[in-house]
Amino acid sequence: MIFAGNFKTNHTRSSTKEYISILTKLVTNERVYIFPPSIALDKFEDSSIKIGTQNAYPTKNGAFTGEIGLEQLDEFDIKTILIGHSERREVLNENQEDIASKFKFFQDNGFEIIYCIGEPLEVRKNGEKAVIEYLLSQFNGIDLNYDNLIVAYEPIWAIGTGVSASIEDIKGIHKALKEVVKSPLLYGGSVKIDTIKDISNIDEVDGVLVGSACLDANKFYEMMSIK
Ligand code: PGA
Repeated sequence: MIFAGNFKTNHTRSSTKEYISILTKLVTNERVYIFPPSIALDKFEDSSIKIGTQNAYPTKNGAFTGEIGLEQLDEFDIKTILIGHSERREVLNENQEDIASKFKFFQDNGFEIIYCIGEPLEVRKNGEKAVIEYLLSQFNGIDLNYDNLIVAYEPIWAIGTGVSASIEDIKGIHKALKEVVKSPLLYGGSVKIDTIKDISNIDEVDGVLVGSACLDANKFYEMMSIK
């Protein structure tokens, strides 16, 4: 199982340090990724946890106020990136074209990419066929044959709401996605300690992308140990 934790705009540089040190001592054989805010990125040398960036601009360096590029990531040997998260699509207005060119840039630079897709509630209301169609459109311009790829399915209506998709829903969508996605497929959206067991038992789920429930290192680890 893959456990990826997305801090979003939570934790500071010092609390991230403490978090990684706590989690490093607990984690044994799971594949664990943590995405701290960019200001907290660092090398964390004695840790088996993979540190990734929540975002970056597709550039080595340059005049892109407020952004970070390859040069800043290289300083900390960061080689993993989240691309296509719904908050970047919806709140920060990244369109599919922006996302595809970001994907291409980081693919060309050998990054491990966790590529996120997910439908809004209006689409979900139209049924599974409409959802699949919408999700497939989020693969436009994306090289699904890239071998350093992980895909995360995160229905927008389940993110941060406390209500995850039902086991049946996850099963149905993951099964359909597995027809085109050969890389590991994560589920995300209100994954919690009390739902992790059922979610991780779904054959088509290779791991989870967790937001709010990963913010406490001990609780995130508890999730890993009961999966
Ligand atoms: P959540 O966030 O677990 O708080 O719903 C998941 C995500 O956005 O990756």
